[in-house]
Amino acid sequence: MSAAAAEGPLLQVKGLQVRYFTERGTIEASRGVTLHLDRGETLGLVGESGSGKSVTSQAILGLIREPGRIVAGDIVWKGRSLLAADGAAYARRVRGKEIALVFQDPMTSLNPVFTIGLQITEVLRHHLKLGRRAASDRAAELLDLVGISAPRQRLAQYPHELSGGMRQRALIAMALSCEPELLVADEPTTALDVTIQAQILELLGSLQQRLGLSILLITHDLGVVAALCHRVAVIYAGRIVETGRAADLFARPAHPYTMGLLRSTPRIDVVRPRLVAIDGTPPDLSHPPAGCAFHTRCPIATDACMAEAPSLVPQAGGRTVACWRAFTPAWPGEAANRRARG
Ligand SMILES: Nc1ncnc2c1ncn2[C@@H]1O[C@H](COP(=O)(O)OP(=O)(O)OP(=O)(O)O)[C@@H](O)[C@H]1O
Ligand SMILES: [Mg+2]
Repeated sequence: MSAAAAEGPLLQVKGLQVRYFTERGTIEASRGVTLHLDRGETLGLVGESGSGKSVTSQAILGLIREPGRIVAGDIVWKGRSLLAADGAAYARRVRGKEIALVFQDPMTSLNPVFTIGLQITEVLRHHLKLGRRAASDRAAELLDLVGISAPRQRLAQYPHELSGGMRQRALIAMALSCEPELLVADEPTTALDVTIQAQILELLGSLQQRLGLSILLITHDLGVVAALCHRVAVIYAGRIVETGRAADLFARPAHPYTMGLLRSTPRIDVVRPRLVAIDGTPPDLSHPPAGCAFHTRCPIATDACMAEAPSLVPQAGGRTVACWRAFTPAWPGEAANRRARG
């Protein structure tokens, strides 16, 4: 690998388009997703249900299945395409080893009929070619790393014998078994109660620091993002509408959708009389609206917004925004921000 490629972003998703060709018609699940992740960085991908978060993570990991297909765009890992015709061997080497996935639901992603130990050692023996004894030692180390006490005993247990939080830790241990550089965590805490959720987030944060991991954290919970992420990418109807440094984006959202999301998020530092959900519903992706997909719900949309989709435009401070109205003289962002801050 050239020095330039080594210094570039770890992962780039460029104009990714994914479609599902179903009997009911074509669903444009991803309509040009562009984002990047640097080494050692945690990027939050946030958006409402059905906005294309999981489809993006599945595309990165090569898990889009029929009737779905990647129809355009590229996914580039360390400067080299994972989708190129001659890149199949490279993609196989990278996925599952350098890039690992933590699933949403630990109960369905762990096999109920095998012990935790067998499931972790299986991965270690397959990918790292460790012998039985070495794999078992390493599995215990991994459970210890993710904060599971008495790891040797735990290895002999079945998934149902562990609590929900323990199962999620075990899954994270499995994802870490091949020493990945990027962890893709799709809603890693949704199935857990609030206290356990906080512990798992803390664990991810500490692993990120101790191991120098990059994390792509997928969630619809902005509170989770605020706790853990360096940068945020906001996705709406299969497109990224805004990206920026987390603290900056929270303090000064530029896209009307981001403003709406922030207003509908409970915050512990601000007492609000009630939560305001964004008016309207996300568009039907079998018939996405023309122009900016958010125009049907946007309080400041004009005719221009219905005619043509805005592209993601770089702004000062590493921010990118796809909105015709952002930062125009008539832009009501500051007033809206003041209201959002209460
Ligand atoms: N296998 C599939 N067949 C048909 N459509 C699909 C399939 N998988 C995803 N889609 C569609 O792609 C779009 C994006 O789905 P995706 O699962 O990425 O949403 P999400 O942002 O992860 O939502 P959630 O927060 O609910 O997990 C949705 O409209 C969904 O219906
Ligand atoms: Mg999802």
